[in-house]
Amino acid sequence: MGRPVFIHPNPNILSRLSSESNGVARVTPSMVEALRWVSDHEENISGIFLCPEDSSFSAFRFLEIALNYRPAVPIFLFEPTLQKQDEIAKRVKSSTRVQGFFVGTESYDALVANLKLKVDEKIPKKRLKPTPEQEHQDYTALPISDFFNSDKYPYDLFIYNPPSRISFFASKDSSVDGNYLESLAKQANYLYVQTKDLINDKKLLQEAHSQLIENKDIPTDWKTSEVMASSKELLNKIKNNGASEQVVTDAQQMLGDLFRLISTIDTGDGSIHRLIDKAKNCDRSVFCASYAMLICSHLKYEKVSSLEILGMACVLQDISLYRTPYGDISNKDPETLTENEAKIYFKHPTLSADIIAQHTDVAQVTLQVIRQQHERKDRSGFPGKIGGNLLHPMAEILSLVNEYYDLTKKFTNQKLLEEELVREVYPHYSEVVSSAFKSVHTKL
Ligand SMILES: [Fe+2]
Repeated sequence: MGRPVFIHPNPNILSRLSSESNGVARVTPSMVEALRWVSDHEENISGIFLCPEDSSFSAFRFLEIALNYRPAVPIFLFEPTLQKQDEIAKRVKSSTRVQGFFVGTESYDALVANLKLKVDEKIPKKRLKPTPEQEHQDYTALPISDFFNSDKYPYDLFIYNPPSRISFFASKDSSVDGNYLESLAKQANYLYVQTKDLINDKKLLQEAHSQLIENKDIPTDWKTSEVMASSKELLNKIKNNGASEQVVTDAQQMLGDLFRLISTIDTGDGSIHRLIDKAKNCDRSVFCASYAMLICSHLKYEKVSSLEILGMACVLQDISLYRTPYGDISNKDPETLTENEAKIYFKHPTLSADIIAQHTDVAQVTLQVIRQQHERKDRSGFPGKIGGNLLHPMAEILSLVNEYYDLTKKFTNQKLLEEELVREVYPHYSEVVSSAFKSVHTKL
């Protein structure tokens, strides 16, 4: 009997499903852990239930990898928005190979009802032979057990029976009789799916992913998670490989997606709030970039410069903190740094700008904003105590957002955080920038 896999960021949902299934269900909050099961052919998986609104990994990448190993296992999404919209759901199904949608509150039995093998007593319908042409096509081996747990199969099966051995093949777009499938399983563990069908499915998925932001069928919260996941990936790349032209290109792509996402979000339904919340839990660079873009659009700054100057500065600002002689100190609370770490920390704006200037063609004005990322209008910032007219307006925005990010990590109580902003932060910044920040902040 196969085990369904549930991937959801909500631990309550996971523990409920685990106990309702008497421990049969495999549950995890991590797509990466689920992929370990998916890629292990010894695992007998009956279905995959995935929440695409988790930013820890890209749901599209997950689907793509799952398709490599388990193209016949049915996949369902916990995606309440789509469940209610039939037409859109159909389109998402066709491009993502997802077979259905759930909210997450359903009982275990209701979720797996689709996975019960509906074997009827009919005589097996399919006993076809491959054409000579099909015989020579390239096939990929898959466990037959993957085909058991659905009444709809993504691949048809037929049998090729030369005198010496029996082979089972699958080609696309037809139905399979349950009894027939069972009889095949008694004779062999694997069947062979046409590789070109798998390649086509993968292409559809990649197309849906590349048109992610424009794709009106994908719900905003799902898109947000995808952008957050790609920003995390970018950050890892920066941490591992340092500054390079490739990093700049990837950052431009991520910032472009983030900007388009923010400008298409419907402000009335709480999506922006959820985006900022996710960004807060993701990393400083994407949080600063999201907030800074909202402020730029409030101040009616031009889009390209907002992205190229401020957006890029947000992403690259802390590059010198990732690989110091004392390891990665970018996530440390400045107050807990050792003396030697603090020496680097208080120089990191300049050090970051120098590293970037050395390895990329990033514009001088972006470097200036990076150098001034912690300066304040009243000259009480660091490292150069630069203020007044020498402080670039975009650097002032970044500096204020950086301070706000630190406070969100320090204060869990919203009221205390707001008081701290009024008392310790706003007085150091210009009226224009602090009121733009306040307008954006109060709307969220
Ligand atoms: Fe910084």
